Amino acid sequence: MAIGSPRLLLLFYSVLPFLATLTLAADQYFQDRCISTAGNYTANSTYQANLNNIFSQLTSLTEFNYGFYNLSAGDENATKVNAIALCRGDINQTVCNSCLNDTISELRQRCPFYKEVIGWSEYCMLRYANRDIFGEMEDSPGTCLLNTQDVANADQFNQALDNLLNNLSSLAAAGGPLRKYAADNYPVGAFQTVYAQEQCTPDLSEQECGNCLTEAKQGIGGCCLGKMGCRVLRPSCFLRFESSSFYQTPIPLPSPPPSPTSSPPPGGNGNNTTRIVIIVVASVVGVLILITSICIFWRVRKTHEKLGTDDEVIRAESLQFDFATVRVATNNFSDANKLGQGGFGAVYKGRLPNGQEVAVKRLSMNSGQGDQEFKNEVLLVAQLQHRNLVRLLGFCLEGHEKLLIYEFVPNTSLDHFIFDQVKRAQLDWERRYKIIGGITRGLLYLHEDSRLRIIHRDLKASNVLLDADMVPKIADFGMARLFVRDETQGNTSRIVGTYGYMAPEYAMHGQFSVKSDVFSFGVLILEIISGQKNNCFRNGETVEDLLSCAWKNWREGTALNIIDPTLRDGSRNEMMRCIHIGLLCVQEKVADRPTMATVILMLNSFSISLPLPSQPAFFMHSNIESDMSSSLGYNSQMTESNEFKSEALPLSTNEVSITELYPR
Ligand SMILES: *[C@@H]1O[C@H](CO)[C@@H](O)[C@H](O)[C@H]1NC(C)=O
Ligand SMILES: *[C@@H]1O[C@H](CO)[C@@H](O)[C@H](O)[C@H]1NC(C)=O
Ligand SMILES: *[C@@H]1O[C@H](CO)[C@@H](O)[C@H](O)[C@H]1NC(C)=O
Ligand SMILES: *[C@@H]1O[C@H](CO)[C@@H](O)[C@H](O)[C@H]1NC(C)=O
Ligand SMILES: *[C@@H]1O[C@H](CO)[C@@H](O)[C@H](O)[C@H]1NC(C)=O
Ligand SMILES: *[C@@H]1O[C@H](CO)[C@@H](O)[C@H](O)[C@H]1NC(C)=O
Ligand SMILES: *[C@@H]1O[C@H](CO)[C@@H](O)[C@H](O)[C@H]1NC(C)=O
Repeated sequence: MAIGSPRLLLLFYSVLPFLATLTLAADQYFQDRCISTAGNYTANSTYQANLNNIFSQLTSLTEFNYGFYNLSAGDENATKVNAIALCRGDINQTVCNSCLNDTISELRQRCPFYKEVIGWSEYCMLRYANRDIFGEMEDSPGTCLLNTQDVANADQFNQALDNLLNNLSSLAAAGGPLRKYAADNYPVGAFQTVYAQEQCTPDLSEQECGNCLTEAKQGIGGCCLGKMGCRVLRPSCFLRFESSSFYQTPIPLPSPPPSPTSSPPPGGNGNNTTRIVIIVVASVVGVLILITSICIFWRVRKTHEKLGTDDEVIRAESLQFDFATVRVATNNFSDANKLGQGGFGAVYKGRLPNGQEVAVKRLSMNSGQGDQEFKNEVLLVAQLQHRNLVRLLGFCLEGHEKLLIYEFVPNTSLDHFIFDQVKRAQLDWERRYKIIGGITRGLLYLHEDSRLRIIHRDLKASNVLLDADMVPKIADFGMARLFVRDETQGNTSRIVGTYGYMAPEYAMHGQFSVKSDVFSFGVLILEIISGQKNNCFRNGETVEDLLSCAWKNWREGTALNIIDPTLRDGSRNEMMRCIHIGLLCVQEKVADRPTMATVILMLNSFSISLPLPSQPAFFMHSNIESDMSSSLGYNSQMTESNEFKSEALPLSTNEVSITELYPR
């Protein structure tokens, strides 16, 4: 078995008794990944010796360590072996040791000479590699096992499962450095129950564990939704659900050390006087401690009350960067550091004195508000923090200069990949599907989960940046706030947006809402699947716009035709689902478009049946294109590595300012 690809592998585990039979040894559920890209070692090499050293450490474990082991062998980097072993949170040391023992023999047979290997079995997981793996969250390569039997009452079951998994992942993630594990069961109607278990390696942070489990939960959608049981296995975490009980009571963790004041007085043999003295002393000490605590509490509270307003000020100041520092960081805004020129101004790469890389946006136009107002808005936008949003780190004000400082995202923007003949191959379906999921979560956060409701108004492929792990991060949100104060919904005469992505009601009447973002999101999904820009889709000879082409193929039952030919190996089910969702998002009637919360649900749960889309809005295509083609051409010079280019602004050449074209 030499599977190095991170592709999801579906394996069937048949209808088996799920009651935990702890005597099962090297079990039929054993899964492995022999990672071929990490290379091989040779027989009798130092690497092999180090690996054997790891194995013998693991087979002679004396401490239980709550089922988590972090081992390494070898001094030279080239031959060093690092290993992580994790046992399920509900099994004891005996079972854990024998599981690891069996896993070692399995892996010796299944992945000989591979330097990097992962093995998952019923009760434990073992991985080793010639690189640092401790403290790294890794959610691929993974695999998935399913019970092929369909569950009864799938909708109800999935609803309960969804709640259960969400609650368990928060519990597991909050589990602390010894163990991150949770298991529970919820009723499904009157007669059914769903049982689930989630676990991360405890070297992860709470957030990393949560992310890993979220990703694993999404794996269910592509694997075993609607089935009676499922296991999603990842290098850093795993989850499992069944329709019958399979887990035990968790092995207890040590209780926190008792505080000295609450320890019982020693003795029992001593005479009465000693006992009385002890009681009196203890009471006096207790009362003193109580009084002291109350005093401290009052003082702390007072100080806090006094600091209340100052805190905010301190926070705003801490976001302010010194202009001289930024100038040095960007090499005096040199052309060599320039990442791009957008409507709001140029963007430069910079390196702060502490080594951190940043992207600096030098606003070229008057933001239309005073300094204090600008600061307040930066403070608000900086609080929007999400894995799928580019983080605003701060700002800088100096004379007429206004700068925004963002985290630097290394892999440029999505359009540089999906629209590039060569680079598109780097984004296989699994990656693109994850990117769609990430954009969905980022946008949902902006629309519903953050304290402010933010409408992006210019979501498009060039505003989705990719980090080193190809995690998508939405850029340029909140720009409307930073420029003109805006309601979250309403009419505006100032339209920022990009041709082809704009909802008709926004482009024509300036009406924006979360649903106009949903429209842009729909266009973006279709672009990601087809690898075609929204306005230059070539179907054989004819040039059509993407939406009408997608719609025609959908109606004729040939939707698979629009899929990017480089996505040969992806799940057709997932792709069809995404095309379906994309078409629902670009419906002409605002009310027919789903919200982002519904989109998440649709993506995660394949058992939800979706409404049928009707013909999408093609307004731009039909009546305007001929008049405006020269000024509205999609930015054709987007080949430089420049992630902030083609910004939302009426003034730049490649954007539309429909205000002039469609006076209200
Ligand atoms: C590594 O070893 C395995 C089995 O021994 C073999 O199938 C594989 O091709 C080897 N890979 C490389 C890169 O040599
Ligand atoms: C490795 O060592 C064993 C025992 O010392 C020997 O039999 C075998 O031939 C060696 N293999 C290689 C490739 O050197
Ligand atoms: C785990 O291993 C890493 C790398 O060897 C080491 O830095 C770290 O201190 C270890 N942590 C524990 C808890 O053993
Ligand atoms: C070994 O790796 C560590 C960290 O991965 C690095 O700091 C160190 O310089 C490396 N040593 C050599 C000799 O390459
Ligand atoms: C460990 O668990 C197994 C299965 O529950 C049980 O048979 C065994 O007695 C336990 N061992 C110890 C030492 O508790
Ligand atoms: C692990 O396996 C070795 C032999 O491969 C055996 O001697 C040892 O007792 C086993 N340990 C456990 C805990 O099963
Ligand atoms: C799951 O978590 C949610 C939100 O925290 C809570 O409202 C709900 O009661 C939990 N469900 C159960 C059964 O505990």
